[in-house]
Amino acid sequence: MKIVISIGGSVLISNQDLKKIRSFADTIKKLAKDHTVYVIVGGGWIAREYISTARSLGANEAECDCLGIDITRINTRLLITALGEKAYPLAPTSYQDARKAALSKKIVVMGGLIPGQTTDAVSAVLAEYEGADLLINATSVDGVYTADPGHNKDAKKFTTMTASQLVDIVTKIDISAGSNSPIDLLAAKIIQRCGIRTIVIDGHDPNNIIEAVEGRNNGTLIE
Ligand code: UTP
Repeated sequence: MKIVISIGGSVLISNQDLKKIRSFADTIKKLAKDHTVYVIVGGGWIAREYISTARSLGANEAECDCLGIDITRINTRLLITALGEKAYPLAPTSYQDARKAALSKKIVVMGGLIPGQTTDAVSAVLAEYEGADLLINATSVDGVYTADPGHNKDAKKFTTMTASQLVDIVTKIDISAGSNSPIDLLAAKIIQRCGIRTIVIDGHDPNNIIEAVEGRNNGTLIE
């Protein structure tokens, strides 16, 4: 299978935990033995802290987005380092470059691309562009809920949902730099238009990625 995995910076880089980064790298290398794997890395708390400081200093949202993109690329370098020779050594900065990098048969790892979106959108567009069979979003929540579970105790998790339901839910979430959403609106729209099988899972445990590839996920399946 051709698989695009989006890993939230908040789950990959928790307190620069070396064991965590290595364990993600081991999981990805294991999958890459049988599948073509692309990984998109998010910015996590480091991006949010930089964005918040820049905003307080007077930066507008697009400028904050650019800062967020830079942090996703720094996180990407850490994962490339952990993957060693199995990874393509440079992070592509366009979908065309990602395709070229994939010709190397190595694991392609990249971060953010343009302001006004998050790495969810990058992973959805890349999945469409490369004709992936599966898109996995390993994030800090364990699936898509009817409302933000952090703020609404009555929020219910979807085990399966349609892309149109996903679009309806994320439409209500704001898109300021660093904002929290299980999947951003652009990504949801891309998933809707290309119909790619997508699974949102709790990314804190890298093993959940293997489970999702093998069809045993505890998250939300969008199809
Ligand atoms: P992330 O993709 O990491 O956002 O990008 P996220 O989903 O909030 O973070 P995780 O899941 O906890 O890692 C961080 C920020 O970088 C900017 C946005 O401001 C985003 O909120 N960004 C990222 C872009 O503007 N464009 C991109 O292509 C990627």
